[in-house]
Amino acid sequence: MCGIVAYVGPKDAAPILLEGLQRLEYRGYDSAGLAVVNSRSLKTRKVKGRVADLAAAVPAKFKGGIGIGHTRWATHGAPSDVNAHPHLDQEQRIAVVHNGIIENADELRRRLEGDGVKFESETDSEVLSHLIGRMVKETDSLREAVLRALKSVVGTYGIAVVDAQRPGEIVVARNGSPIVLGLGEKEMFAASDVAALIRYTRQVVHLEDGELAVIKADGFNTFTSDARETAKEPFTVDWDAGHYDNGGYEHYLLKEISEQPDTVARTLRGRIDDRFHIAHLGGLNMDARETRSFRRVKIIGCGSAYYSGQIGAQLIEELARIPADAEPASEFRYRSPVVEPDTLYVAISQSGETYDTLAAVQELKRKGGRVLGIVNTVGSAIARETDGGIYLHAGPEVSVASTKAFTSTAVAFALLALHLGRVRDLSPADGRRICDGLRRLPEQIKEILTLEDQIRELAKKYADAPGMMFVGRVRGYPVAREGAQKLKEISYVHAEAYPASELKHGPLALISPELPTVAVVPDDELLDKNLTTLGEIRARHGRILMVGHRTSEAADDCIVVPRNEVELDPILLTIPLQLFAYHAAVALGRDVDRPRNLAKSVTVE
Ligand code: AGP
Repeated sequence: MCGIVAYVGPKDAAPILLEGLQRLEYRGYDSAGLAVVNSRSLKTRKVKGRVADLAAAVPAKFKGGIGIGHTRWATHGAPSDVNAHPHLDQEQRIAVVHNGIIENADELRRRLEGDGVKFESETDSEVLSHLIGRMVKETDSLREAVLRALKSVVGTYGIAVVDAQRPGEIVVARNGSPIVLGLGEKEMFAASDVAALIRYTRQVVHLEDGELAVIKADGFNTFTSDARETAKEPFTVDWDAGHYDNGGYEHYLLKEISEQPDTVARTLRGRIDDRFHIAHLGGLNMDARETRSFRRVKIIGCGSAYYSGQIGAQLIEELARIPADAEPASEFRYRSPVVEPDTLYVAISQSGETYDTLAAVQELKRKGGRVLGIVNTVGSAIARETDGGIYLHAGPEVSVASTKAFTSTAVAFALLALHLGRVRDLSPADGRRICDGLRRLPEQIKEILTLEDQIRELAKKYADAPGMMFVGRVRGYPVAREGAQKLKEISYVHAEAYPASELKHGPLALISPELPTVAVVPDDELLDKNLTTLGEIRARHGRILMVGHRTSEAADDCIVVPRNEVELDPILLTIPLQLFAYHAAVALGRDVDRPRNLAKSVTVE
């Protein structure tokens, strides 16, 4: 959730740290801080607010060629100057930035306070600086001090630590929260996300859980938690700094929605085979025999990733005729799931770092499950932990609300469903129909994007409502869920999604002119049933915005999108709902890219 950046090299660290923090702000944005080492003493600045507030508080001459920075998403202690990181030890020798949660922080704090340590903040993270501060006096090595301190810690962390007495090195460590090293020319970087490094280097090394690294201007060494050195191969990130710019759009969210014709084309590129009407998915690492052997598919992910998994489950059942369902990874990991050898597990994550999803994957692996990943971020933890998978190639998603990654995930599932179907009973004719449909998607998304003016006006019309109901049936239901999710997270308008068929079992009581309904109504075999539901809403004086393939007098307003194959229609029906949520949020003056209380990458439980 929080962003970490660290620099050691010949330049002044502060501008590099501030630049990196700006790039990481989507991970957390309630307070920020940095520390640099100069003449064997620490200089720090910490502020409640955004990275821009921190930049304003850092004097122009803030010299020091080694430093660490942090942008925070509060878990323990309200956002404030003192609760902002870095945290220092009592001698002001050690500075620590931390992402994650120290579960035994209260116990450690009591113990340290009993020994006379005075805490400055309410955070769990501050125990780390005091523990390391004590250990560093007992040993001659910062690495050793960090290793020893971490032995008494229970919880998750990505940390970066500097010691004013050792101004040539930074120690970073990972357990559950990402840390990536960036290799420069006589300079080294570390961060919680490549976004912070990409302006300076594309050569990176990911730390594994339990690993620690010592970085110096001329290189790095990595170690296990029992101080054994590990060997790491750097790899080259194929995104560049331009991918992280807003491209002249007012918000990253609008940029990312608008990119979808290209990002979907990238997800599809090289993966459709017209000879046999199959999907080429080399990264699955499974031969045809193994692919045929699965009797169930279980999909796990969190939030929007989970909703895209529901679209995926529907696609797999329809095209491959394998029972499939999706479940929130955050629930799955805690209910001691039965892991079956003939079930294919699929974990979905844009960031590849969502802690609940990663923990679910680790639980599955421990029980011998076969797990694939559908992931956007190459080299991320979930990509590394899974047995194989599909990269989305959607490019970095910066806005907190997921749009292009959601769409590309649904497209990746269509490819997986085609692949599983064609080694079973999906006919060549149906295979061709799906391949052709997939190929039409980018142009059809372009067409939907031309509806933006109409959708902007509709968003303005409905944005004043105190809440909205979203309904859909079967293929339309996950679309309705994602539509409600987008609206609530960026506009803060209360939004509920229900299967259309469930309305009469309870939620119909809510329907009134004050609670408009967004109805997802594709032209499929359930059209008549959906129109009947609209009639029921109308009879209760509910206003209706229908999203589908035709206009209808049963609705007050209609958004009409192009038709594809019925199985693929959910992918297209989601796009207008993204634009609707975006323009509702703009009309309400919300901070579209950084909605309150949320963070892009949820690396805590
Ligand atoms: C999406 O709009 C949300 N911000 C959120 O639900 C997100 O999809 C979820 O946290 C999972 O993230 P991931 O795809 O990076 O794992």
